[in-house]
Amino acid sequence: MHPVFLETFGCQMNELDSELVRGQLTTLGYRFVNDPADARVVLFNTCSVREQAEQKAYSRIGIVGKRKAAGETIVLGVIGCMAERDGVDLLRRHPQVDLLCGPAELDRLPQLIDNALRTQSAENAMVLSQEERTALAGNRSRRSSTLAAAEDNLETLDLSRAFDEQAMGGARRSAQVRITRGCNKFCTYCVVPATRGAEIHRPPDHIVEECRRLADAGALEVTLLGQTVNHYRYEHGLALTVDGRQAAQVGPGLRAFRQSPPVGSRVTTFAQLLRRIHDEVPQILRLRFVTSYPRDFGDDVLAVLRDCPRICKYLHIPAQSGSDRILKLMNRGYSRGEYVDFVQRALAWVPDVCIAGDIIVGFPTETDEDFEQTCSLVRELPFKNNFIFKYSPRPGTVAIDRFTDDVPDAVKRLRNNTLLAIQSETSRRVHAAWVGRTVDVFFSEVRAPRLRGDGTPEMRGKVAGSHGGVIELPQLAAAHASNDRTGRSPRADGLDAVSTCWQAIGRTSGDLICSAIANDEASAKEMAGKIERMSILASGPLLLRLGTLPSRF
Ligand code: SAH
Ligand code: SF4
Ligand code: F3S
Repeated sequence: MHPVFLETFGCQMNELDSELVRGQLTTLGYRFVNDPADARVVLFNTCSVREQAEQKAYSRIGIVGKRKAAGETIVLGVIGCMAERDGVDLLRRHPQVDLLCGPAELDRLPQLIDNALRTQSAENAMVLSQEERTALAGNRSRRSSTLAAAEDNLETLDLSRAFDEQAMGGARRSAQVRITRGCNKFCTYCVVPATRGAEIHRPPDHIVEECRRLADAGALEVTLLGQTVNHYRYEHGLALTVDGRQAAQVGPGLRAFRQSPPVGSRVTTFAQLLRRIHDEVPQILRLRFVTSYPRDFGDDVLAVLRDCPRICKYLHIPAQSGSDRILKLMNRGYSRGEYVDFVQRALAWVPDVCIAGDIIVGFPTETDEDFEQTCSLVRELPFKNNFIFKYSPRPGTVAIDRFTDDVPDAVKRLRNNTLLAIQSETSRRVHAAWVGRTVDVFFSEVRAPRLRGDGTPEMRGKVAGSHGGVIELPQLAAAHASNDRTGRSPRADGLDAVSTCWQAIGRTSGDLICSAIANDEASAKEMAGKIERMSILASGPLLLRLGTLPSRF
């Protein structure tokens, strides 16, 4: 019954891994605590994608290290991408770390924790060998002989998922399911192919079954995860395990995406997988997927998006840059023109589709002209949002060896801020086009009002309805609109009075963030995990303002 504290950094893959680790350790009798001070085992599930992400983990490791130096008995484990990237070097530099476990080896984590606990509690504490402290894939995951074995173990980990409250996101009723592991793309800046290994596709039957069980446990929303989900492709009849189950399989070459599967062939494409889940698990009211890759995204997937009402009309499809020269140096495999064509094709098939992405600024040799190309892309295309990152050179990538990180940090920062401002205008435009429409909103969280020093809500502006729970937003919005001399639509972000109320926050099918005002905390909380049809009254760069919440009385 050892108490465990687990903190997760990085992307949704890591969140899902943490959930699986939690399930696995809970089954073995460990119990999870929310405060590292109460834990006998402290685990950090780490990310390596940018240096900043690693810094965070190192500072946490430092804090636990100090406690250990002061005499506390703690097992400190570093798991995830940073463990894999840094490898045993990390143990040398941070002797307070007891164990390392890479993302492809998580099925071996319980053994490592057990080893560490037993040594620490032994009378004559012995020193564990490196093998007893580490589970890293190293280059092994790229060697096909052992790949199948490693993946079968991981498949077992995914399959052993506990279908409980945690799995389906608690009150949020939102779960994640992995369809592909690893990545075969080798963008020159990116550490993921090194930390997560080769692209492996899970058998469609396993995926559909996992979705079904999550839906049975109460999930309304399922997000399918992969680094490049549209490259999902499973060839049936290729590999079976001893007991006749389907096995995970290595991704095919890119040529496979240039043509449709021959008639009668036993291939499950990404489009077919989506349709299967949509049709076979209708209890899932929202089926989403991230991340899409701007190349090899067929019309078959767009047709499924158009035709299947429960598949979210949302594409997270990072452009990374608007400059052809930089895209080439990044090895992204598409040009700006091809990216623009893709977005136009997506909008033609699915007019309501919402497009989001990621962009890197300050890639080596990026000039003002290159950056201007990125700015104009963000002005031209209707991106609902973009995550913008400053280029961070990562050990083990092609870019760090091939190019000097020659864009000064001050320039990166300036470009980052410039692009954020442009994106904000684009978001404002995209959002404004939705005002007046009625949408289904899936509520997931609650935002507390801003509080005064004495802890009571600061209720500036006219917030009506102290009895029975309805707040008249239109009046507020109108009041603000009349103050806005530019004549633009009421700016949701400027509605001061609104931010002083309880709000229920949710998302449309296209992932547009929405806010509804609630009269009190209970009314806002009650919305979590519900889908409501609501009208959009106002908009700003960050979110859409909804009409009044249905009263809970
Ligand atoms: N598979 C996804 C992205 C995974 S990493 C895709 O290809 O779109 C998430 C994001 O982190 C990337 O889209 C990229 O914008 C950013 N990123 C990755 N490596 C980076 C680096 N070295 N420096 C800055 N940003 C980086
Ligand atoms: Fe990294 Fe590129 Fe793979 Fe995305 S597609 S994970 S950016 S290598
Ligand atoms: Fe980070 Fe690994 Fe995800 S490097 S972004 S946690 S795949």
